[in-house]
Amino acid sequence: MADDFERMWRDLEPVGRASASGGYFRQPFTTSERELAAWFVEQAETRSLRIETDEIGNVVAWWDVGEGPGVLTGSHLDSVLDGGAFDGPLGVVSAFAALDLLRERGFVPARPLGVSVFVEEEGSRFGLACLGSRLAAGVVTWEQARELRDHAGVAFGDVAEGGGSRLLDEVGTFVELHVEQGRDLVDRGAAVGVASGIWPHGRYRFDFTGAANHAGTTRMEDRTDPMLTYAMTALAANKQARLAGQRATFGRLEVTPNGTNAIPSRVIAWLDARCSSDAALAALVEAITDQAAGRAGRDGTRVEVTAESVSGSVSFDAALAALVAADHAGGDWPVISTQAGHDAGILSAAGIPTAMLFVRNPTGVSHSPEEFASMPDCLAGVSALADTLERLAR
Ligand code: GLV
Ligand code: MN
Ligand code: MN
Repeated sequence: MADDFERMWRDLEPVGRASASGGYFRQPFTTSERELAAWFVEQAETRSLRIETDEIGNVVAWWDVGEGPGVLTGSHLDSVLDGGAFDGPLGVVSAFAALDLLRERGFVPARPLGVSVFVEEEGSRFGLACLGSRLAAGVVTWEQARELRDHAGVAFGDVAEGGGSRLLDEVGTFVELHVEQGRDLVDRGAAVGVASGIWPHGRYRFDFTGAANHAGTTRMEDRTDPMLTYAMTALAANKQARLAGQRATFGRLEVTPNGTNAIPSRVIAWLDARCSSDAALAALVEAITDQAAGRAGRDGTRVEVTAESVSGSVSFDAALAALVAADHAGGDWPVISTQAGHDAGILSAAGIPTAMLFVRNPTGVSHSPEEFASMPDCLAGVSALADTLERLAR
């Protein structure tokens, strides 16, 4: 099992890796991500699994054994811009390794077992997080998705074939294994944990507009500078989130014309906000929007706010989490919540009983080239996933 895992991990290591930062650029429907998709099919064929695809880019490799609704496990292969190696691929590689381990154990599932990859989980290209699983679950329509555009203006409908998805029709349960994106398991001294739920979160586009002018000749009191309104909004977001015990980040910016010696005419900034409840999220975004509008009034600029990707609070099936976490040789696995979004959250909200396993991340760093999990912890994750699949497909 260790050999299988390490071989697959080595296969993936160079794909989409930037030599400057050591981070990964695996945006959906780019060369590196398509290479990973081809690798997935190859791995499935080596194991004699039946491949099922949809017209969106999602894929499932089925071990056709047993009867009834299947147990699906997997994650995603795309990354954020300059991301880490583990967010996504750990769940896919672990799924194949867990399947190998079950076969080594001589376990014959009573239900079909599938390994899945959902496309554009990060929303790093088309802006809507978990796009593939939202489409597969039917919570976003192809008509809505096809119009989403990437940074260069390419539409999702131009790269994906499009249409419906029947991939989840035969799925009874979903399990996603993921690197932890925090330090909860480190604090608890556990290699593996189980998810209780996901904080609600969203992405909001703030369009600040003002008037372009000369950076040298325009008197300070004569400016309508949207960069100033943005800057004060970013500070306000940080303060409001800290006061409320929640999270707010401006991590992406587009400036027009983006010249050193020109006051900009327009700044577009994206807010990522995450809160412990849906009501707290609504209140935080409202507070930040109010402060942005107030500041725009004083600066003589304008601001418009558009919600681009919103995911409500997720509580995973508590009985399923308890079944997965309880009665292990080393004691029960901890059950913890997360502030990160996952396809598992979409499937759970769509009514599919869903569980998540987390693997310890010694620094907690994620969405960065520094993201990490040790090999012994990754292997503990594979064996935890195999144990979980045994419990679910017995
Ligand atoms: C995905 O990883 C997210 O939480 O944004
Ligand atoms: Mn991620
Ligand atoms: Mn992920």
